[in-house]
Amino acid sequence: MQEKLKKIREEALARLNAAASAEEVSEIRVAFLGKKGALTEVMKGMREVAPEDRPKVGEWVNSTRKVIEDTIARTQQAVAARALEARLASETIDVTMPAKLPRTGHRHPNTIALEELERVFIGMGYEVVEGPEVEYDYYNFEALNIPANHPAKDEQDTFYINDKILLRTQTSPVQVRVMEKKKPPIRIVAPGRVYRSDDVDATHSPCFHQVEGLVVDKNITFADLKGTLAQFARELFGQDTKVKFRPHHFPFTEPSAEMDVSCFKCGGKGCRMCKGSGWIEILGCGMVHPKVLRMSGIDPEEYSGFAFGIGLERITLLKYEIDDMRLLYENDERFLKQF
Ligand code: DAH
Repeated sequence: MQEKLKKIREEALARLNAAASAEEVSEIRVAFLGKKGALTEVMKGMREVAPEDRPKVGEWVNSTRKVIEDTIARTQQAVAARALEARLASETIDVTMPAKLPRTGHRHPNTIALEELERVFIGMGYEVVEGPEVEYDYYNFEALNIPANHPAKDEQDTFYINDKILLRTQTSPVQVRVMEKKKPPIRIVAPGRVYRSDDVDATHSPCFHQVEGLVVDKNITFADLKGTLAQFARELFGQDTKVKFRPHHFPFTEPSAEMDVSCFKCGGKGCRMCKGSGWIEILGCGMVHPKVLRMSGIDPEEYSGFAFGIGLERITLLKYEIDDMRLLYENDERFLKQF
């Protein structure tokens, strides 16, 4: 019996000594101390031991159990400590490593250009207003002196919702909406999306942006228009910028003009940017047509006004020397990151 117990003890201690994980230790506990464990089997053999020997044998069994239990406890601790050490070693954080920079977005080049433009006009006392993109034919054409059979309607073919409602082709209808609601003096700029059924190319898009301007008050003359737009051009493109007005035609202004700015790249000598002419066209403008004033409820005998329409993309492309409008809409990060 003593031999048997000694063997059990040695075997248990040897296995515990080699145990590498908490699972292994608990397997060993089951194998020796469990219900069907080796030591329990010995206890079951007590019946065959002579009664006078039982206390002694009982003592052997107990001391063997105690040694194994103590060793299990010690081994468990050692295994846990080793596991913790291994985890600490594998999960170390190097606090001296540079941090990952958060990726922050920024404004789109079109938005940057628009905000700069708004800043200039707000500085001159203008208010920024907006109108609907889905517009009545009346505001988009009729009230702007473009009757149903007018050829200018062809040039601005657009997307019709029905006979009376369309996606606006220009921001000019906002002029009418403002004049109907507000008594002069009026000084507004109205930025927003406009739509035309154009095919996409380097200079066209079926959806683009305009900024409308309108001033109505007593004694507003073409001199006010020229002074205002020249000042705007200098603030946007630099103090040396010159402006030139070419006669043009818009149904809702009379007289009408297009404004060119001297090329800010070559200073007017002629380069790739201005296609050799020294001038770059940036907007349409004119004195608000008396018929338009009257239709909007403003007496042209008492008031006069000027208006202008700027293509926002054109300003953005010029400002950043971008040669293809499509880049503005493609959401290519390699492009957008540059602003
Ligand atoms: N609405 C015109 C267009 O889309 C641009 C324009 C020209 C607006 C002259 C104006 C203006 O207010 O006075 O072509």
